[in-house]
Amino acid sequence: DKNGYEHYMLKEIHEQPHSIGDTFRGRISIDKTKIFLGGIIDVMPKLTQAKRIIIIACGTSWHAGLVGEYLFEEYARIPVEVEYASEFRYRNPIITPDDVIIAISQSGETADTLAAIKMAKKQGATIIGICNVVGSSIPRETHAGVYTHAGIEIGVASTKAFTSQVTVLTMMAFMIGRKRGTLYDELYKKLIHELTLVPEKIDIILKSENYIKGIAEMYKDATNALYLGRGCLFPVALEGALKLKEISYIHAEGYPAAEMKHGPIALIDQNMPVCVIATKDKSYEKIVSNIQEVKARNGIVIAIVTKGDETINNLANHVIEVPDCHESIAPLLTVIPLQIMSYYIALMRGCNVDQPRNLAKSVTVE
Ligand code: M6R
Repeated sequence: DKNGYEHYMLKEIHEQPHSIGDTFRGRISIDKTKIFLGGIIDVMPKLTQAKRIIIIACGTSWHAGLVGEYLFEEYARIPVEVEYASEFRYRNPIITPDDVIIAISQSGETADTLAAIKMAKKQGATIIGICNVVGSSIPRETHAGVYTHAGIEIGVASTKAFTSQVTVLTMMAFMIGRKRGTLYDELYKKLIHELTLVPEKIDIILKSENYIKGIAEMYKDATNALYLGRGCLFPVALEGALKLKEISYIHAEGYPAAEMKHGPIALIDQNMPVCVIATKDKSYEKIVSNIQEVKARNGIVIAIVTKGDETINNLANHVIEVPDCHESIAPLLTVIPLQIMSYYIALMRGCNVDQPRNLAKSVTVE
């Protein structure tokens, strides 16, 4: 049931204030001072003492894992590696019983992810799942896990499953950080509070849908697009590019903004839309200069900015505003306009948004 929406993807984009709320419901105390993830309580000693966390996933779930890497390292101070399941399983990786593996999968059925965790389990690692489909194969293979509770996702392009995965990883990073003492209580409480504000902030972003549709109209005939971000917004750039390519068949690439000058900058001309995720955080000044570099080469800049940003407003061709937030929360907000833009570009190009060519919702073959 599309609930009145033209496509499941659009419905699922709009569900995100609710689905994210469902992800943290019952897991954050009413007074917003504690996070409790029941599914991983038994493995908390393993997690807090882990020498290393290896996150394995594919596609969009792998992008969520990259966001997790930034958050775990920042707040829990545990080294993290993020691996494509398909590469990890075939390269004879070094795994020890001190390693904790976190497998992320919406469907819980992705063949490569499943095979990778079976292999790591044999070598003695502790396996934690972050899955959406209850009772699917991956949760049955893991020692512990957290369901995302995003609700059934039908659109092949993952939207609400991604934001729920990121929400779980954010909660885990904060909870482990607090337990390890790397995150002090005052900041911990502030971050929890920030997380609980996400649904209402996404509601605000969704109100810009028509404005974003207008931008989509202008660039629907592009043949290439570049997405740039820094820090935990670099994975959002990758995700924005994947959303565009999988449903609109426009070639798109995501890059860490500073890597641009090591190659991709050669592509920039007056026909190249460049989406820059540039909310206010510790690398803000740097990303402003990246925007100037694109403009100096006549590129078209579509910037996702913090509400009220005058500096970027004066530089970019278009700005899409998101409400002010703590930088750890920004991935959850900034991905929303990118999902909406991809949706409308695909729609205007006459593509089958919910069922893009050559793709399946769960990839159960390797
Ligand atoms: O079910 P999974 O999360 O394991 O699926 C992984 C990828 O196949 C999936 O995220 C794919 O990249 C999506 N089509 C992205 O929108």
